Amino acid sequence: MVTENNSFYPQPIFEGAEKRLEVDFEPAPLSGVHEVMDVECHGAAQPHSDSEDSQSSSSATAVAGSLRAIKHGEWNKLLEPAQCSIVSWESNASCDAYLLSESSLFVYDRSLVLKTCGRTKILDAIPGILERALDGQRSSLTVARARYSRSAFKCPEQQPVPHTDFALEVSALNGLFGHLEGGGHAYVLGDQCTDALWHVYTAGAPPKGRGSTSTLEVCMTGLDPKYCEYFACKSDSNSPAQRACLRLECGLAKLLGKQDRVDDYVFDPCGYSMNAIRDERLVTIHITPEEGFSYASVEISNLGPKDTLDASEFVGHVAALFGPQRVYVAATGDFLPAQYGGFGLAGGYSSVSCADQRVAGYGSCSFRAFATGQGGPLARGSGALAGLKGSAREPSSPVTVLSKERGASVEFSSSTSEGNDGTAAIRDPSDVDSLFIKRVSAETIESSCCVEEFAAAKIKQLSLEDTFYVFDLGNVYRRMLTWKRLLPRVRPFYAVKCNPDPGVLSTLAALGTGFDCASEVELQSVLSLGVRPDSVVYANACKRPSDLRHMKHTGTLLTTFDSESELYKIKQYHPEASCVLRIRADDPNARCFLGNKYGAEQREVEPLFAKAAELGLRVVGVSFHVGSGASGPEAFRMAISLARGCFDAASRLGINTLNLLDIGGGFSGGSGDGREALESVAAVINESLDEHFGADLGTLRVIAEPGRYFSEGACTLFTCVYGKRQRENRQEYWLTDGLYGSMNCVIYDHAELKPRPLWIRSANSSATEGHPTTLFGPTCDGLDTVLKEVTMPKMENGDWVVFPEMGAYTISAASNFNGISACDPQIFYVVSKRE
Ligand SMILES: Cc1ncc(COP(=O)(O)O)c(C=O)c1O
Repeated sequence: MVTENNSFYPQPIFEGAEKRLEVDFEPAPLSGVHEVMDVECHGAAQPHSDSEDSQSSSSATAVAGSLRAIKHGEWNKLLEPAQCSIVSWESNASCDAYLLSESSLFVYDRSLVLKTCGRTKILDAIPGILERALDGQRSSLTVARARYSRSAFKCPEQQPVPHTDFALEVSALNGLFGHLEGGGHAYVLGDQCTDALWHVYTAGAPPKGRGSTSTLEVCMTGLDPKYCEYFACKSDSNSPAQRACLRLECGLAKLLGKQDRVDDYVFDPCGYSMNAIRDERLVTIHITPEEGFSYASVEISNLGPKDTLDASEFVGHVAALFGPQRVYVAATGDFLPAQYGGFGLAGGYSSVSCADQRVAGYGSCSFRAFATGQGGPLARGSGALAGLKGSAREPSSPVTVLSKERGASVEFSSSTSEGNDGTAAIRDPSDVDSLFIKRVSAETIESSCCVEEFAAAKIKQLSLEDTFYVFDLGNVYRRMLTWKRLLPRVRPFYAVKCNPDPGVLSTLAALGTGFDCASEVELQSVLSLGVRPDSVVYANACKRPSDLRHMKHTGTLLTTFDSESELYKIKQYHPEASCVLRIRADDPNARCFLGNKYGAEQREVEPLFAKAAELGLRVVGVSFHVGSGASGPEAFRMAISLARGCFDAASRLGINTLNLLDIGGGFSGGSGDGREALESVAAVINESLDEHFGADLGTLRVIAEPGRYFSEGACTLFTCVYGKRQRENRQEYWLTDGLYGSMNCVIYDHAELKPRPLWIRSANSSATEGHPTTLFGPTCDGLDTVLKEVTMPKMENGDWVVFPEMGAYTISAASNFNGISACDPQIFYVVSKRE
């Protein structure tokens, strides 16, 4: 087996993106005069302050019921559950600013801002902080409002729960703050396809008497590597003088005012944090300089209406310093900083997302995302899919997917038989998307026709005598291009059950597909590639409790149901799930019929919606599967019209949360670039979407669950003849694989095998005369007869038989019966440049 299980970057990567929580307090109703909380200082950390008064300023200025009476020693304890600690601090009359091992904490008399990066568990610290701040029963303060915000994580699956998914974070935040006046509100601003996203949660109302403020946050990824060199720890780089020099040299000093009190730190081996405070205003900068996952944030907060910050100029200045590929800017508050409205970003950036949102309790939030040509279409998860829309690269240039380790890249030519219509933008391993690619070693071949030539060479070179496969990832790639061209509105979620090979999965992940999983093992196999839980549909309409628990644990939300019993199970094990009603919509001529087992009948639709509503479950859409190996497009026409009826039924019941249509699998496989398989069915699907969902297509997500389409034609099976016999005029041969191995597809998938000899021995290469032939599999069972009536030339032991188009429902259902290992055959990966 050539596949190995390492990915390019050390796992886990360091996640620079911060979780930011701001909590505002106000005096508790009827609270009288309160004593200053007075806590001993036991911390080991030292202030960096160069001024003598700074250390004592907090206690000196703390007012009755002030959070600032909590000293750093106690803060250290309170921060323990979040898994960070205080490195140093600085204070002024309004604020104590702590530099943390992971980002920063700012404490005012009646508010705090806690920002933590990496895999920290920020929310775990909150109950302790609230308990302490509210001083138990003797509460002099009360929480007025809370705001949580963050950009998209690079690797959400590496975050601790609930940070794997925003919906889970929201439910955890509601647990902490949902009781505040007006309850909790959650918003996701930006573009889901490119991960240019900003997440905001708020609860409560502005504290009484607090003036208007706003916050500007700039987050950047793909930093200029040259600039990042400043932030590697050198000997003595943590002396105050060294850090002052660093600030000047790297230009960060220009972002600060003369009266700012500054505290900064260079981490070993690399990384940098800075807090700067003036009056109430704060600036905080955090830099993760490592190549492959570089990230920096610059926040400026507590701006008042009279502050004259020109946001456009400030962001331009920040971007010019860091040279990032992507820039995300979020302004939140009671008013927006000057020049915020429609600003652009000079220096080759284009705007990739722009969203404005009224935010309960905070006025508004405006989000802008910019990208350079290099960073534009690429985003983790769906970036390559976005890339397929074209823009970042020359259409005909090769697409490099792997592999840094071996120095041997795999190149995907974007040429299709029709010309250069594909522009997948996977370029080199430093692209974030390449995190998806498992280290499979693949060889480039000229065209898919060269697969047998490649196999013959391998047989000779390695003296092979047992079953093996050749997987052509180039074919998978071209099929994705065809899909994008013919069904541009439908995002494919590859059905893992069809062929869970890691090379196939990681190629598809890199190309931006989502995944349809139906078990814990399948889900884990895609999450371990770095696929995000929100790129998964758990399309098993009847799940085991352990599956649901695992879904919940990993933050995977989307799943199908078609019975009341499933709804009760979801309610019990994963009540936050996003439920999709699977309806029955059969193609009666499909090769594998599914409707006998799955899919709600039409009469069951309304009662199921009603039950979901009664249980408080969130229903988000409708799905169907016309049957695997469907025979024609008309089943899709009927199914989409039935789905429309379900959307209408939901509306009649007052359920207005449906925004997903899942058109399932059932697409043909076969050879070629996918055009033949998809053309007619795509025309019907597009027509039906327009007819039945035309008005909703702006907000409706349409996905599909193709399996066979992507993997069937890409995989060729090679078996070796190791026994023979002649009975009358019939030739009988024993092959190294059979019905208990990959050929189980004859039984379970109703496959029609197309064997042909692979001529290697020159003596036999002219023996083309056909004879009645029987092919046996290798096990001791008489049933293990692959084909009884096939015409083939005469063969000898050591000859090879090729079975093309063997990628769908073959290895995935094979067994090791008789100790003959058919589940894990040898696999060679190739990338053909064209069909
Ligand atoms: C729920 C579900 N989705 C998707 C698929 C994939 O179907 P196909 O390989 O026909 O595209 C299957 C196959 O059985 C399935 O059961």
